[in-house]
Amino acid sequence: MKLILGVSGSIGAYKALDILRRFQKSGHDVSVVMTRAATRFIAPLSFETFAPGRVFVEMFAPGQDPLLHIHLSKENDVLLIAPASANIIGKMANGIADDLLSTVFCAFYRRVVVAPAMNTHMLENPAVADNIARLRGRGVEIIEAAEGQLANLEIGRGRLPDAETIYRHCLNSARV
Ligand SMILES: Cc1cc2nc3c(=O)[nH]c(=O)nc-3n(C[C@H](O)[C@H](O)[C@H](O)COP(=O)(O)O)c2cc1C
Repeated sequence: MKLILGVSGSIGAYKALDILRRFQKSGHDVSVVMTRAATRFIAPLSFETFAPGRVFVEMFAPGQDPLLHIHLSKENDVLLIAPASANIIGKMANGIADDLLSTVFCAFYRRVVVAPAMNTHMLENPAVADNIARLRGRGVEIIEAAEGQLANLEIGRGRLPDAETIYRHCLNSARV
């Protein structure tokens, strides 16, 4: 499968490297789109090492394909956003396209899988819960956040599931 791995600004962003490797190990073709916030948690270079020339952050970058958002949307079977921050989920639910990842989502017309990862209180915030429900209602697949110890050491729901769980979800219900 041809997949875009979207990585947003969650403390779980480092796990996206394992997700990239898991898909690549099974021969899938992965491009990576990071938000700027994601680059505060993990360097683009880490992804670039395994997917040279296939890691994108900026909407407007000198020398970059000006229609990258359209071409990425057209050329891939699945858009997986893992981890998905409360912010990117809110933008997706509201059609906001103010960076590369949210714009790729707006232009994407195939299968979208989202793995929310955030503190339990953020996950349970009515606006966030509502945004997740709206996306689900529009056919976006949601991988439920896992329970466990969170960044603030509390135990609760909100952790990004491991790479294998995310990989299996994408593979098991593959429509491509
Ligand atoms: C240390 C730290 C950890 C964070 N972890 C998360 C998180 O797990 N989930 C989340 O939704 N936001 C988290 N945030 C907040 C987001 O990074 C912030 O809302 C950012 O604007 C998200 O931008 P993006 O959606 O463009 O990636 C965290 C912020 C900091 C400083």
